[in-house]
Amino acid sequence: MALPTIRELLKSPGPRPGAVARGWVKTRRDSRVMSFAELNDGSCRENLQAVFSQDNGNFTDILPSLVTGAAVEIQGDLVASPAAGQKFELQAKQVKIYGGCDPEKYPIQKKKASDEFLRTVAHLRPRTNKYAAMLRVRSELAYSIHTYFRNNGFTHVHTPIFTASDCEGAGEMFTATAFDLTKLKELPKTGAGEIDFSRDLFGKKVGLTVSGQMEGEALALALGKIYTFGPTFRAENSNTYRHCAEFWQIEPEMAFCELEGDMDLAEDFIKSVTKDILERCPSDLELFAKYVEPALMDSLRNITDNKFERLHYSDAVKILEPVNDRFELKVKWGVDLASEHERFLVEQHFKKPVMLHNKPKEVAAFYMKLDDDGRTVRGMDVLVPRIGEIIGASERENRLDVLEKRMRDLGMKLEDYQWFLDLRRFGSVPHSGFGLGFERLMMLITGISNIRDVTAFPRVPGYAEF
Ligand code: 4AD
Ligand code: MG
Repeated sequence: MALPTIRELLKSPGPRPGAVARGWVKTRRDSRVMSFAELNDGSCRENLQAVFSQDNGNFTDILPSLVTGAAVEIQGDLVASPAAGQKFELQAKQVKIYGGCDPEKYPIQKKKASDEFLRTVAHLRPRTNKYAAMLRVRSELAYSIHTYFRNNGFTHVHTPIFTASDCEGAGEMFTATAFDLTKLKELPKTGAGEIDFSRDLFGKKVGLTVSGQMEGEALALALGKIYTFGPTFRAENSNTYRHCAEFWQIEPEMAFCELEGDMDLAEDFIKSVTKDILERCPSDLELFAKYVEPALMDSLRNITDNKFERLHYSDAVKILEPVNDRFELKVKWGVDLASEHERFLVEQHFKKPVMLHNKPKEVAAFYMKLDDDGRTVRGMDVLVPRIGEIIGASERENRLDVLEKRMRDLGMKLEDYQWFLDLRRFGSVPHSGFGLGFERLMMLITGISNIRDVTAFPRVPGYAEF
C-alpha cells in the first residue's frame, strides 16, 4: 500500500508511532542540540516539521545533506507538536536521502523569486508554494466542473482535436500535417503550385481545433445536454496576459435552450464552482490572498453573492461612449469591445460580473442566431474583474435558410459544412451553449494575473519550452 501523504499525516486523529514521510526539504535550521527540517511532498500547502534530536540517534553525518531541494525519506514518530501553528511534528529516527541537491546551483531558493524568472524554470517551479497551490487548485477546479455538469444532467463528450472546420472563422487554426515541411520541394503540389493536401494523411487540409462547439452541437442534438472539457488551440499572435496558443475550454451545449437559459447556466456555473473551491481549498486560497492578490476573497465573494448584470450591447455603448477619452480604442455602436472596455464596465461601472448580450452581427461569429432586427445576434460574453471576457456564448442559428445566407455573405464554402447544416435539416431545435476558458477561470479564482502562471507549461508566442 502507498505510504500516507503529508496531508494525510497532518490529518491523523492522533499520534502515530513509526510514521514515514517522503518529500523535498524546504528548509533546515539547526540549534545547539536539535535540528528542524521542513518537509513538503506537494500533497498540501503545509509542511511537516521533522525534529532531529540527539536522544533519537546520531544525525551528525546526514544532516548536512538535508538541504533545500533534497529528496528524502524520514522515519520516526508523529507526535503532538509543542510549536504553534502545527498539530504534529515528526520525531526523526532514520533518514534516507533519495536525491541530494546542490544549494549553490538549485534555482528555487527560499527568497521570493519573480514570476518571470520562475517561468524560465517551469520544470522546477511546481516545487514553490505558489505554483504547487496553483496546480492543486487547478486539479480541484477540474473536479468541481465535472461534478457540476454531472449533477445537472450533462453528458461528458469528447470532440476531436484534428478538424477541418474553423469554428470561429477567424483564420486562427494551426495547420496539422503529416508532411515533412522541412522537405518542401519534395511535397506533392497542385497545378497552382500549392501544397496538395488531398495527398496528406487525412486526404484534406486539417488543423488543431479552436473549439469543440460544432461537433458539440451534433452531440447535443442527440443527447440533449452535453459538455466538452479539452485542449483548444489558437494561432493568434496575441502576446497578452490573458492569451495562450494552447488553452483548455469547457463547452456545454444544450438542445431546446435559448439565450436566456444559456445565461442562467453560465451564471449558475461560475458561482457554483467558485463556491465549491472556496469550501474545498481554503488553505491554498489563503496563500493567494496573502501573497498574490490581496483583494482575492472580496472579489470571490463579489462573484458568488451578486446577480450578474445582464447588459444589452447598445446600453453598454451608451455607458462607454461618454467616457471615450479614457480608452485607446474609441467606442461607437458597431465596434467589437476590447479588454479595456470590458474591464471598465465590470470594475468601474457595475463593480460586478457583466453578461454583455446582443452584439452587432458584424463582430459576431457566423453561427450566432440573428435577431429579428437583422442587426444584432443572440450572443453573450461573460465579463469578470481583472480579466474581462471569460465566457463566449450564444444561441445557435438553427434556421437552415438564415444560416446558409449568413455563411454565403461571409464567403464561407457551404460544401465544407454540409454535416453542420444537416443539423438544421433534420430535427433542428433551438439550442445554445458557451465556451469558458479554463485558464481564465483559474486566473479569476486564484488572483494570478498572468495566464502563463496558471498552467504548468504555457504555450504562448515565442515560447514553447519544456
Ligand atoms: O469566445 P470564444 O472564441 O468562443 C468560442 O470558441 C465558442 N465556439 C465557444 C462556444 O460557444 N462553445 O472562446 C471562448 C472562451 C473565451 O471567452 C476565453 O475565456 C477563452 O475561451 N479563450 C482563450 N483563453 C486563453 N487564450 C486564448 N487565446 C483564448 N481565446 C479564447
Ligand atoms: Mg469570444
